[in-house]
Amino acid sequence: MKGRIPDTFIDELLSRVDIVDVIERRVPLKKAGREWTACCPFHNERSPSFYVSPAKQFFHCFGCGAHGSAIKFLMDYDRLEFPDAVEELAQNVGLKVPYEGGRDNAPREDRTDLYSLLDASARWYEGELPRSTEAQAYCKKRGLDADTIARFRIGWAPAGYDGVIKKLGTDSRRMQLLNEAGMVASNERGNKYDRFRERLMFPIMDRRGRVIAFGGRILQEKSADQNIGPKYLNSPETPLFHKGRELFALWQVKQANSNLQRIVVVEGYMDVIAMHQAGLPIAVATLGTATTPDHTEVLFRAAPDVVFCFDGDRAGRAAAWKALESALPRLRDGRQAYFLFLPDGEDPDTLIRKEGKSGFEQRLKNATPLSEYFFSELAHDVDVASLDGRARLAERARPLIARLPDGAFRDLMGQELQKRTGARAVFEAEPAKRPTANTVSIQRSLVRTTIALLLTQPGMSDQVERPYGFLRLEKPGVDLLAELIDLARSRPGISPAMMVEHYRDRSEYGALSKLMAATMAGEPELQRVEFFEALQRMEQLAADQRRLFLTGKSREGQLTGAEKAELRELLAARARPATAAEGPG
Ligand code: UTP
Ligand code: MN
Repeated sequence: MKGRIPDTFIDELLSRVDIVDVIERRVPLKKAGREWTACCPFHNERSPSFYVSPAKQFFHCFGCGAHGSAIKFLMDYDRLEFPDAVEELAQNVGLKVPYEGGRDNAPREDRTDLYSLLDASARWYEGELPRSTEAQAYCKKRGLDADTIARFRIGWAPAGYDGVIKKLGTDSRRMQLLNEAGMVASNERGNKYDRFRERLMFPIMDRRGRVIAFGGRILQEKSADQNIGPKYLNSPETPLFHKGRELFALWQVKQANSNLQRIVVVEGYMDVIAMHQAGLPIAVATLGTATTPDHTEVLFRAAPDVVFCFDGDRAGRAAAWKALESALPRLRDGRQAYFLFLPDGEDPDTLIRKEGKSGFEQRLKNATPLSEYFFSELAHDVDVASLDGRARLAERARPLIARLPDGAFRDLMGQELQKRTGARAVFEAEPAKRPTANTVSIQRSLVRTTIALLLTQPGMSDQVERPYGFLRLEKPGVDLLAELIDLARSRPGISPAMMVEHYRDRSEYGALSKLMAATMAGEPELQRVEFFEALQRMEQLAADQRRLFLTGKSREGQLTGAEKAELRELLAARARPATAAEGPG
């Protein structure tokens, strides 16, 4: 099992990546003064409240409160676990992630073993493919070339009930893992056997290219006297595999395209593979399920244009309408959905072999925009020439249009509805929420304010005089402030986001990242002055506290000699006119 990723590595990683790059690749950003902005990817909005600060290497949304470092952004946006987000970023900048500790102190939720077991299974199936003449012949019949077989890691599960078990289930822990990974099934008597037998194997990979499940196809269509199960058998739901979220070949699509404009969703594994092989590596498939809203979100994150491709038959039309419904709430401005219906009896696999890449591309170009499909489908059995018919259309369309996120597209759909029916679509207006420099005016204690200010420019720590006078103040957070200053001193050049990441495993993490977000929009020069003023104020308060304490003690006649001297000094300092609070430099 893998161990912990050391903090020093997280520092180095965050110093190498630029959060603006990381986010820009997923969400188009506009420059706004020192920051970059966009409509928030974590909630629906019309005007941008999402800010990315290059100086602080931090993002913050004034609308929904989402905030954090580049790592946090990847965790939220790509839905990655912490180590995976780190791996992803490290890969981008060519760093290898070190793990310390290893086996003994591995975290409870470590799934490394599950991943490596599935990878070993895929490797074993890949190795079996060249050894089976019938599987080889089938691949040839389906026109799969060697490069495609390698790229999709297509393999062969041989006959027999214990191939995988013998190869990989060599002890009880590994058997347990095979079971968790969905690789074995058990009969009524509890005997375990290989789930996949005599099937062409298609590994399903997650968005980082790791095998998380399999689909397996029988070589010949089922005949009545055989009981060989379904044409395609998929892994069951496992801790790693959730059908409703994963898309077949998304990894391959991401590998083949750095800046994808359009992604196509088709129905079958073989359709995807045929398209990739024909030079259109922009196809993915759902895994034998309808398109879910989760799928749609993943699709739109991969590309702004999504083409849903279906059979032209009844079942295909029903599936398309389901896809439309799942797309509606995700259609914020800038995203477009299209529908492509294929001629009867054809699928993308057969079509692309007949018409070639350019023929299929032509079809993609002519795909029906969602708005058109939407109105034609709703109107197909109403007579729009009659008042009743138009009323009926409006009635059907309204609740659906209302599911669109607030934005220009919803306005246009509303106008289109009015044009077609004379009826208006009515929506509740979104309350305006514009950020200003001091939007976040949470009542904060002095210590919290000081920490927040330090987080704006950790480099200021160098100029805090030692020993820290403020440490005498008895208030929560003072020790944390000292710790943060020490941290910043020990790592010259540390960015605000790096500072906060140091605390991710500690209870202070949430509070620190909130504090950091709160100061996002301030003026650096002002914040600097405020920081040193705050430190001075803390020292003053500490002195007041001490003076009150010693005065009390003196009333009881219990002061030592040293304390008497201290009190005299404190009283004298209070009598002196307050010096202007100034930060050095
Ligand atoms: P199809 O039967 O249309 O698949 O099912 P296909 O890709 O065209 O198959 P070939 O060309 O005959 O090889 C479409 C998809 O539905 C799921 C699979 O994901 C398949 O790719 N499916 C189909 C199953 O999960 N189980 C089945 O028994 C059949
Ligand atoms: Mn097919």
